[in-house]
Amino acid sequence: ILAQVSAKKGQTFHFGSTYDTYDADQSWFTSIFTTFYRHVVSENGCKWDATEPTQGASDLTECLATHTFATSNGNTFRGHNTFWHSQTPSWLPGSFSASEVTGTIIPQHVQQEIEGMGPSVTSWDVVNEVVGDGVSSGMTALQCVQNKGDWPTVTADGSGKPLVTDLSFIYAAFNTAYTYAGNTTRLAVNEYNTGGQDAKTACILSLIQNIQQNTNIPYNRLAVGFQSHLTASTGGFYTKQALATTFSTLAALGVNSMITEMDIAVNADNTANLRYQAAIWGDYLDACLYASNCNEFINWDPRDDLSWRGTSAAATLFDSSGNPKPAAYEVAARLQNY
Ligand code: G3I
Repeated sequence: ILAQVSAKKGQTFHFGSTYDTYDADQSWFTSIFTTFYRHVVSENGCKWDATEPTQGASDLTECLATHTFATSNGNTFRGHNTFWHSQTPSWLPGSFSASEVTGTIIPQHVQQEIEGMGPSVTSWDVVNEVVGDGVSSGMTALQCVQNKGDWPTVTADGSGKPLVTDLSFIYAAFNTAYTYAGNTTRLAVNEYNTGGQDAKTACILSLIQNIQQNTNIPYNRLAVGFQSHLTASTGGFYTKQALATTFSTLAALGVNSMITEMDIAVNADNTANLRYQAAIWGDYLDACLYASNCNEFINWDPRDDLSWRGTSAAATLFDSSGNPKPAAYEVAARLQNY
């Protein structure tokens, strides 16, 4: 089905999930990444704590092993992530000057990881979750990033207080990524609770334009990843129309969009909730399928018992026995109908 979808879309449509080499039930992973998922992202193995445990010493063992799992099963691979305030190595945060952070620490890490992983990566989350949750409409890109309170990744003055006086640390990450990534690799800002017409999404839209204006990276090499960690019972999701509007706003700029970490927590694993989950999942997939600039759709954790949201959230496409849930059938149907 995915080959037909790709042919119809005019470019490869990447549909996948997460994998780590230490995940339980490796044999199930091999089969499900042969029959259902065809695109791999490392859930944890390509993060800063895994890839630069000692400053300046790159260790891509885990990240490369995930890439090998992908290619040996005929899957494509995306990189997550080269910069995030969470899961940093023990030497971060440290008391580094702003110029050390922007001039050395970030470029060195981004180069090591992206160059080391090679050019066959569909997209990289160059920066992950850099926009605050307390943003309001009309904020500048700098204000949106300054609003991100928990900034322990790099404290320029070592005081523990974030010192984000400008966005040069983000430009450094993107410029380095653009230099070392494959020439078709999309370079993304990746964010949660975004995708509709709200202040945080507006921040992401102004941030991606700010990045383009300050790096001159062509718009068609840039992307926005909408993580999409949703909660059905609280209405914590966007409508297909809201998503489509955001995708088309980005398409008008020439920027790619992706659904990068989809899961939908449901209160109780009952028929009605699972059908509700399926409908939301199908609408998110349709929003991406029918958008000219959305060609990656990643489901976060391939099975309920492996979900970071806990088994009881029943948040993924497959139940804990590895059986497809209504959402998996819905997704297959939407792909078939496209
Ligand atoms: O590898 C260690 C292991 O050695 C140790 O024994 C074990 C117990 O302490 O911890 C293991 O590390 C855990 C790691 O997952 C690997 O399993 C960390 O404690 C745990 O915090 C980490 O959780 C990950 C989380 O990011 C960290 O923030 C989740 O698996 C992962 O699904 C989640 O994914 C993030 C995305 O990267 C970014 N978007 C949000 C999403 C959900 O938080």
